[in-house]
Amino acid sequence: MADLSTEFMGLRLPSPLVLASSALSNRVENLEAAEGHGAGAVVLRSLFEEQIEAAGTRLDEALARQSESNPEARTYFPPQRVGPHEYLALVQKARAALRIPVIASLNCCAPGSWTGYAREIEGAGAHALEVNLYSVEADPAISGDEIEKRYVEIVAGIHAAVKIPIAVKLSPYFTSLPHVANQLVAAGARGIVLFNRFLQPDISLERLAPHSVMNLSSPAEALLPLRWIGLLHGRVKADLAASTGVHDAAGALKQLLAGARVVQIASALVRNGVPYLGTVAAGIEEWMDRRGHSTLAEFQGTLSQREVADPGAFERAQYVHLILAQNI
Ligand SMILES: Cc1cc2nc3c(=O)[nH]c(=O)nc-3n(C[C@H](O)[C@H](O)[C@H](O)COP(=O)(O)O)c2cc1C
Repeated sequence: MADLSTEFMGLRLPSPLVLASSALSNRVENLEAAEGHGAGAVVLRSLFEEQIEAAGTRLDEALARQSESNPEARTYFPPQRVGPHEYLALVQKARAALRIPVIASLNCCAPGSWTGYAREIEGAGAHALEVNLYSVEADPAISGDEIEKRYVEIVAGIHAAVKIPIAVKLSPYFTSLPHVANQLVAAGARGIVLFNRFLQPDISLERLAPHSVMNLSSPAEALLPLRWIGLLHGRVKADLAASTGVHDAAGALKQLLAGARVVQIASALVRNGVPYLGTVAAGIEEWMDRRGHSTLAEFQGTLSQREVADPGAFERAQYVHLILAQNI
């Protein structure tokens, strides 16, 4: 019988399948169901820096101020106004209800007085903290270097405030992702989550106005994290978590082969229900049994760029080859 246990940021997990931060990880019943169907850990829905900062003022004002620079933040806010106090209660309830690690999530884009709030989350019992660096940088006067320094400052600030391990959830939009990842690790990150999924605004032709919808991911989107996990495995001193487009056991196994320690799932569980995690776990076990693997460590990272016979498959060479082979 295959052993699915793994280690992520020093935490022992019974399985590499993680319920991603989402509307599902808002309710303790869903967290319990995830544990019951094979989750190795859960990431709670995010608390936004805007929510913490607005706790003393009015949330509406803060949302209005932020909506231009971070429009997607609005779509993640639950209709009821959950503040920092309720968030701590969620962390406590999750800790009391579960045996698997509870990872809290902070969604932020700039350092601020909210940073110290991470300590409260630690005090409420979170085993780890996921920091979702989510910003839409549209100011031509601000360079990529400045933005990256700001991200490093956020992580260093949180690292100084807490002892629990910190994972950083990143967007794929960096000129040099390995460089940024290493900077964040130097600032204290022990895990890198690849990737956050940006929600892109659409345009309504009826209303002649932008409008945003919360679309679920498709399995094709998993190729982007797959490439970068394959490239970063062994190149950053952090545990890698895959996020985006993992919808089944095959998708999870590919990320593990590329070098992921854990695989986060949101859309597939929103679509199929939390018990679907059990189907994914059973599929991983079945594949491992068929291939004669008794532990994940036997194959984790064996298809990362450093391990494969053709490292060019992860880089430009593959693109050049594929484009030149097209002869329609
Ligand atoms: C309904 C919903 C709510 C989400 N809320 C959050 C959130 O609060 N914080 C966060 O970091 N990610 C959030 N996400 C993003 C997921 O954690 C995940 O990164 C993304 O959906 C890609 O993974 P998937 O393809 O498995 O859905 C949310 C996703 C969904 C579908």
